[in-house]
Amino acid sequence: MRILLLGPPGAGKGTQANNLIRDYGLVQLSTGDMLRAAVESGTEIGLKAKAVMDAGVLVSDEIVAGIVRERIQQPDCANGFLLDGFPRTQVQAELLDQMLEELNVSLDRVIEFQVNDEAVVRRLSGRRLHQPSGRTYHVEFNPPKEEGRDNVTGEALIQREDDTADTVRNRLNTYYEQTAPLVSYYTEKGDLVSIDGMQSPEEVYTLLRNALPN
Ligand code: AP5
Repeated sequence: MRILLLGPPGAGKGTQANNLIRDYGLVQLSTGDMLRAAVESGTEIGLKAKAVMDAGVLVSDEIVAGIVRERIQQPDCANGFLLDGFPRTQVQAELLDQMLEELNVSLDRVIEFQVNDEAVVRRLSGRRLHQPSGRTYHVEFNPPKEEGRDNVTGEALIQREDDTADTVRNRLNTYYEQTAPLVSYYTEKGDLVSIDGMQSPEEVYTLLRNALPN
């Protein structure tokens, strides 16, 4: 299965991606995670991306498309993948179309999570992350068993540097200006299903599963 998750920051894309990986064995292609890994390891791309990400605006289309192009051709993607955070602009969507055509595959479903801005701000201010695995928690809505510790490894959780109030506002503006138009792009192609992301994580997952092809 090849799925694309679309939605504003904090919509629950990463949370639901973890459920899909667990239940469907899909490979997650998260450009946010890939860019954070590049920042962490101090590569040239990481050095360029850090300031841009901290400001809540988008890394260049060439850089992110290059990262995805390289990853999507790996053998483990042959059985299916989950795009999370890519594409984010019209140019990226067109570049993705080219990549899929070259691989002779197509997307089975584009899922749009609908959430309001107030929820986004609450979710991101309380988000905690286990960086090595990408597992995501929330101090109020999805707390770990032990405060500040990952449920599986017991390692410390961190707060993302771009989850500050100012950066979240910029990320939301960036979403509405550059990414939200992709909802029409995929609606016109007939691939898109919108689901209510304001329900509990478990309820959202039920809606998501129901929206997937059989
Ligand atoms: P990225 O890492 O992709 O961030 P994002 O899209 O802003 O998405 P988030 O990861 O913040 O949110 P999410 O939807 O995954 O929510 P989550 O499940 O964690 O991108 C970061 C930056 O990288 C960008 O700003 C940009 O600079 C750059 N970048 C990345 N991709 C790029 C691209 N293609 N082009 C250019 N630049 C790019 O949930 C959030 C919180 O809410 C969690 O705490 C969770 O526990 C909680 N939660 C989840 N679901 C629910 C629920 N149903 N109810 C209550 N709480 C919930």
